[in-house]
Formats: sequence, structure tokens, C-alpha cells
Amino acid sequence: MTQDEMKRAAAAAALKYVEDNTVIGVGTGSTANHFIDLLAESRIPLAGTVASSIATAERLKGHGFKVMELNQTGPLSLYVDGADESDPRLNLIKGGGGALTREKIVAAASDKFVCIADESKLVDVLGEFPLPVEVIPMAQSYVAREMVKLGGNPSLRQGYTTDNGNFILDVSGLSIVDPVELERQINQIVGVVTVGLFAARSADVLILGTPGGAQIVMPA
Ligand code: 5RP
Repeated sequence: MTQDEMKRAAAAAALKYVEDNTVIGVGTGSTANHFIDLLAESRIPLAGTVASSIATAERLKGHGFKVMELNQTGPLSLYVDGADESDPRLNLIKGGGGALTREKIVAAASDKFVCIADESKLVDVLGEFPLPVEVIPMAQSYVAREMVKLGGNPSLRQGYTTDNGNFILDVSGLSIVDPVELERQINQIVGVVTVGLFAARSADVLILGTPGGAQIVMPA
């Protein structure tokens, strides 16, 4: 089974968390795209969706889903999204696709966060994947120096601007043994919009696509 087929298997297994006539949050990336396509095929009736990026909103609209503003909806019952890494407690690194800020907002506003990924994304300790940090453009150099003080090696994502008009630093070299504390520390750096560590609000369920099919992982 290819990595893409494992992503699709995880996305298919997430459909059982979708309840009729609800408004759900939908994430960004290739695994989330599989989920959107399978959701459309499933014909589960939805009251609406909230998108975590412009790209996701366009894909949802292309399938005829109603896309709503989070300010219109109140709390969401469900958020389904991918990840770049998950540890066994379901702390995540996200933002490889650059949508981390809106993803974190939608995750925070949702009662249940179902993360979908292929099996390569489950790791013992987060940090092999460079940690994305969205920054206000004028703070880019300052935040980069602060990230060096935390032991990281920041690199500006070249030619990339987020949906919010900001830049992303990809920070390698971190071994994230205490994700909650590191998220708190990075959040306190002036000029940081969002860090792609999802630990204060981790996933509730991880669905891993494996060669043997979808596997449900609960927080250790
Ligand atoms: C986007 C994300 C994605 O969920 C993450 O990059 C995983 O992407 P993919 O499903 O393509 O492997 O955080 O900002």
C-alpha cells in the first residue's frame, strides 16, 4: 500500500465520526483532501463546514458543501485534520502545509479533534519534522534569534506567505520532550502568531492508515 493509500484509508475511517446535519471543521493537506472527497462521496448530510484554509474552502465549495465562517457557527462538534507528526499522547506537529494558525483556531473551537495520518507520522518524540512557526513579517529575524536560544535552527520558508499574510520559520533540531512547555514558551515570543505544536489542545483520536487498514490510536 502506498503512503497516499494509507492516508486515504485513515480519511475513510474518519467518516464514522461525522454526524448527520452537523457543522464540522475541516483541515488542510493531502490527507484532509482525501477526507473532503470521501465525505462528498458518502452523501452524509451536513449543515455546513468550517475550513482551515482558503485551499480547503475552495475544495469544499467545489463539492457543493456550504462553507461557513467560524464566527457564525458557535462550537463545532468535530474537527478532522492531518498532521506532520504525532507522539503517543497525540501531541502534534502541524503546519507543513502552512495553515497552522487557522487549524489551531478551528481545533480549539471543536469538541472533538480527529487526526488522520499515515503510519509514518507516529513518532516517539516530536521534532524530527521541522517545527513551523508563523510570524509577523517584521519580527522574522527577532523570532529566529529567539528560536536559536531555545536550541532550534530556524529557516525562513522561501517564497511563502500564509493565508493571514505572514511568514513561516521552519525550526529544525528540536527534540520536543515537553511539548506543552515548549508551546507555552514559543507562544510568549513577541511576533509569533502561532507555533505548530498542538499540545495544549492535542488530538482526541488518531486514525493511522497502515498496510493492514485503519488503526485507531487513543492518547497514551
Ligand atoms: C497543514 C497541516 C497538514 O495537516 C500536515 O502538513 C499534513 O499534511 P498531509 O496530510 O499532506 O501529510 O498541518 O498545515
